[in-house]
Amino acid sequence: MRLGVLVSGRGSNLEAVLREPPAGIEPVLVISNRPGARALSVAAAHGVPAVVLPRSRFGGDASARDAAIAAALIDARVDVVLLAGYDQLLSAAYFKGYAGRTVNIHPSLLPAHGGRGMVGIEVHRAVLAAGDRESGATVHEVTADLDAGPAIAQARVPVLPDDDAASLAARVLEAEHRLVVETLRRIAAGSLPAD
Ligand code: GRF
Repeated sequence: MRLGVLVSGRGSNLEAVLREPPAGIEPVLVISNRPGARALSVAAAHGVPAVVLPRSRFGGDASARDAAIAAALIDARVDVVLLAGYDQLLSAAYFKGYAGRTVNIHPSLLPAHGGRGMVGIEVHRAVLAAGDRESGATVHEVTADLDAGPAIAQARVPVLPDDDAASLAARVLEAEHRLVVETLRRIAAGSLPAD
């Protein structure tokens, strides 16, 4: 399966996938909406082609940018798309090409702690504020609604009594890296949706 990855920032999940590509998965294209994203150096270090498609290049028109993303993926004959820290909602112009073939990784046990504002460290702060005894990561199908597509796989980690948001984030991130690789492997093996 040819894999496309959409990124905006650090790129540690991308790195996990490129370091040890899951059986049956061939990463062929990385797309970033942000020119300075560290994820772009990760792609370069692994020799995976990357393109930058900021909204500004499309006169601020998100729909035109999303159509360009879908076109670039189609052009690269991408079969399945991973959102790995992509910080924008995708619109109908994107889903014309890749509905049902796009998954996202989120750093909580969705549906808990998803949706508006639940990004980065805020997710882990919310878990601690809620007094949850465990957290984790979710890979879910991407739909036009934020963090709301059906869950495909989850990994659980404990919340420890002396955790702060940073220590919890680090534990969840390790779980994310394992989960994203394993879930892509299972998708390629045909044992999960996203086809
Ligand atoms: C991860 O925590 C992921 O779950 C969330 O954004 C973060 C991206 O991190 N969607 P990285 O860019 O993969 O390091």
